[in-house]
Amino acid sequence: MIKRKDIIKIAIDSPAAAGAGTLAKAISKHYNLLYLDTGKIYRYIGYLKLKFPKKFSYKFIKSKIKNLREKNLSNQNLVSDEVGTEASIISKNKNIRKLVHNFQLNFAYNPPKKFMGSCLDGRDITYKIVPDADFKFYITANIKIRAKRRYNELKKLKKDITYAEVLKSIKKRDKSDKSRKISPLKKTKDSLLINTTNLNKRACFLKIKKIIDNRINN
Ligand code: C5P
Repeated sequence: MIKRKDIIKIAIDSPAAAGAGTLAKAISKHYNLLYLDTGKIYRYIGYLKLKFPKKFSYKFIKSKIKNLREKNLSNQNLVSDEVGTEASIISKNKNIRKLVHNFQLNFAYNPPKKFMGSCLDGRDITYKIVPDADFKFYITANIKIRAKRRYNELKKLKKDITYAEVLKSIKKRDKSDKSRKISPLKKTKDSLLINTTNLNKRACFLKIKKIIDNRINN
């Protein structure tokens, strides 16, 4: 694999709906980094399983990952709670993780020249995908706040779901993502904890920016 030297690599892990995606996007834009929401890849595979149950096989997923494009990951269908739940089921599969792993490595270590580096968020980024990242963050928030944020997001998209259903599903996903054997969600010792419960988007962004600027400028 080609690895670009002298790039900034940011790795972020977080439980569902903690605000990591919004933050990662803002940070990537500010520092001109290539951004990848790795959850979207697992969601895409979960979506394929729901949409093409008969075709769904290792070979099928492999061909889809090989031809994975930006437009596949911006598909609005990936946002639903049903797809999120399916993603958390298929993401326990070792072979599926391996396929996704290689795709992520390319993103992290070999971003196009126009970018200063890369920023990936997910569940196992800080210790499995980019263990040598220059900056590692574990972003979290109180579960009720996370459920409220996800509920509002889904309501904006006119999804037919209640707050109680969202809360239940996030709890289930947290449990599954943290307790699974392969690539569980965890905070590594070298990751900085950012709790977004009482912080708005701008405050979160400034907190992370301060940490990065302090290190870059010293
Ligand atoms: O981040 P998001 O909530 O979209 O992720 C959907 C699911 O994909 C997670 O609940 C998790 O099971 C899985 N995932 C993963 N590893 C990642 C990113 C997401 O297992 N790096």
